[in-house]
Amino acid sequence: MADPLATVTELLAPVFAGLAGDEADPVVRPSDRADAQVNGALPLAKELGTNPRELAEQVVDSGVLQAVCSEVEIAGPGFVNLTFSSEFLAAELGKVAVDDRLGLVEAGTAKTVVVDYSAPNVAKEMHVGHLRSTVIGDALVRMLEFLGHRVIRENHIGDWGRPFGMLIEHLLDLGEDVAAEGIGQGDLDGFYKQANEKFRDSEEFQQRARERVVLLQSGDDDTLALWQRLVDMSNAYFNTVYRKLGVLLDDGDLAAESRYQPMMPETLARLEASGLMERSDGAMVVFPPGFTNRDNDPLPLIIQASTGGFNYATSDLTCVIDRVERLGADLMLYVIGAPQAQHLQMVFKVASMAGWLQPPAEAVHVAFGNVLGDDRKMLRSRSGEAVKLVDLLDEAVDRAAAAIAEKNPDLDGEARAEVARIVGIGAVKYADLSTDRIKDYVFDWNRMLSFDGNTAPYLQYAHARICSIFRRAEVDRTDLRRAEIVVGEPQERQLAQRLLAFPTALDDTMATYSPHKLCTYLFDLAQDFTSFYEHCPVVKAAEPVRSSRLELCDLTARTLDRGLGLLGIDAPQAM
Ligand code: ARG
Repeated sequence: MADPLATVTELLAPVFAGLAGDEADPVVRPSDRADAQVNGALPLAKELGTNPRELAEQVVDSGVLQAVCSEVEIAGPGFVNLTFSSEFLAAELGKVAVDDRLGLVEAGTAKTVVVDYSAPNVAKEMHVGHLRSTVIGDALVRMLEFLGHRVIRENHIGDWGRPFGMLIEHLLDLGEDVAAEGIGQGDLDGFYKQANEKFRDSEEFQQRARERVVLLQSGDDDTLALWQRLVDMSNAYFNTVYRKLGVLLDDGDLAAESRYQPMMPETLARLEASGLMERSDGAMVVFPPGFTNRDNDPLPLIIQASTGGFNYATSDLTCVIDRVERLGADLMLYVIGAPQAQHLQMVFKVASMAGWLQPPAEAVHVAFGNVLGDDRKMLRSRSGEAVKLVDLLDEAVDRAAAAIAEKNPDLDGEARAEVARIVGIGAVKYADLSTDRIKDYVFDWNRMLSFDGNTAPYLQYAHARICSIFRRAEVDRTDLRRAEIVVGEPQERQLAQRLLAFPTALDDTMATYSPHKLCTYLFDLAQDFTSFYEHCPVVKAAEPVRSSRLELCDLTARTLDRGLGLLGIDAPQAM
C-alpha cells in the first residue's frame, strides 16, 4: 500500500531482474517533468554494455507499468517518465483513508531498542543540551514504538562521583528543608555553585567533602540517605520539566549512573580476563586501535583511575553489558551531544573488542549540535548564566498566548490557555527537531513562533484550519472515509502523491534517526494542501467532488496530526 514510488519499484523489480540476470535496482525517483522517473536503465546498460534506450524500451514493453500509469514515456538517453493514473492514485488513497495507521506499517522484525536520552545531572541545572536530548529522544521513542519495536527508555542521569561529597556537605550546612526549597524551584545551579565556592575557599569544607565521598562509596547509611534526598529533589525538578515538555519520561525510566556502580568490578574483571587491559601511569586502561591524541599517541580509555575509582567510561561499558545481556537490546541509541562522539566511539570499540557488542546488536550515537543565541555563541541568559529550562518553556507559552490572542481574539480564556501551551511547547520542540540534528541552530523566538514557514505553529494552524472546514461543512469525518475519491486537478494529484508518501518519509527519518526529515515532509504536505485549497473549491463544490475533496482534507489533517504526534507535538482542533 501507499507510496506509488515504492509500488513502481516493486512492480519493476522482476523486470529488472530479468534484464540483468540478477537483482538490479530500477532507481525510481520523483521527477520534475512527470510524477516519477525510472532511471535504472542507465546504470544497468553500462554494466551490461548495452544501449540504455533499448533497455528502457524493454522496461516499457514489459507492460507492468500499465496497471498504475496513464502515461509512460522514454526520455533522453534512457529515462522513463511516468504519470500515474488518477484511478490508481484514488484507489491507493481509498485504502489509506480507512486505515488508522495511514499506511504506516509496522517493522518486519520488531527489535528491542534501548534509547539513552535526556540524562541531566543531579544537583545541576538541565541545560539546552539536555533539552535537545530529551526532545529528540522522545520523538525517536514515539516513532520506534509506533513501528512496533520494543522500546526501553533509559534516563541515564548523572548521580554519582566525587562532587557528591561536597554536595552532601553543603546540603547538611544549608539544612535539608532550605535546600529542598531552592532545588525544588529549580535553583540547581545556585546550589552547585555555592558548594563549589565553599570547596574552593575552605580547607575545612574540602576535608569534610573528601571524607563524605569515602562514606558514600563505602555505603554508609546516613550518607546514602542524604545522597538519596539530593537525587529525589533533583528528579522532582526534572519531572516538572518533563511534564511541561510533555515527554514520555518518568521515574520508571531512570537508569542512573549509580545503578551500575555495583556491577563495575565485574566489568573490570571481565576486561582483565579478556587480556585487553593494561596498566598505564598507574591506571587500568584499554587502548582501542584507531584513536590517537593530538601528538598521534594512542589514546587510552581509562577503566580504573590510579586512585582506584571507576569513571564515566567504565559506567558506559557496564551499561552496554547490562543493555545487551540483561535487556536483550538489538539496538542502542545514544542521544547525546556531538562533543561526546569520541568517548562513545571508544566505548563501543572496547565493548565490541571484549565481545559484549556483537552484530546484529549495534550501538548508534545519535549526535546533535549546539543551541546558539542571536550572537551565534552558546545560548546564555541575559545575565550571562546558563538558561534555565523551566523559564524558557514558560516564556514560550507566554509568547504563544500573545500570538494567539492576536490571531484569534474569539478563543475563550481556558481554551486559549490550553492552545497557548500546545503551541508554545510545540514551537520549542519543533525548532529543535526541524533542523538536521547534527547542525547547530539559533534559538530565535520570532522564527519558531511564526505562523509562516517551517514551524510548529504553521503546521498546527494548517491542521486547525482543516478542522474548521469540517465544522463549516457540517460533515462527520468518519463517514467521509468511505466516500469515493476522485483525483483530477493537478493540485489534487500533487496532494494525493504527498499523502501517499508518508510511509516513505517515516522510513527515511528512521534510516538515519533524523526527525527533521519528517518535519520537512509535514511542511511540504501543508504547502501542497494550501495550493490545493486555493485552487480547488471544497465546501462549495458539487457532489461527488465535494465529498472527495473533503476526504482529501480529512486525510491531510490526520497525516498532520499523526506526524506531529510522532514528533511529540499536539495539534489542536481550533486555534
Ligand atoms: N549526564 C551526561 C551529561 O550531562 C550525559 C550522559 C549520557 N549518557 C551516557 N550513557 N553517557 O553530559
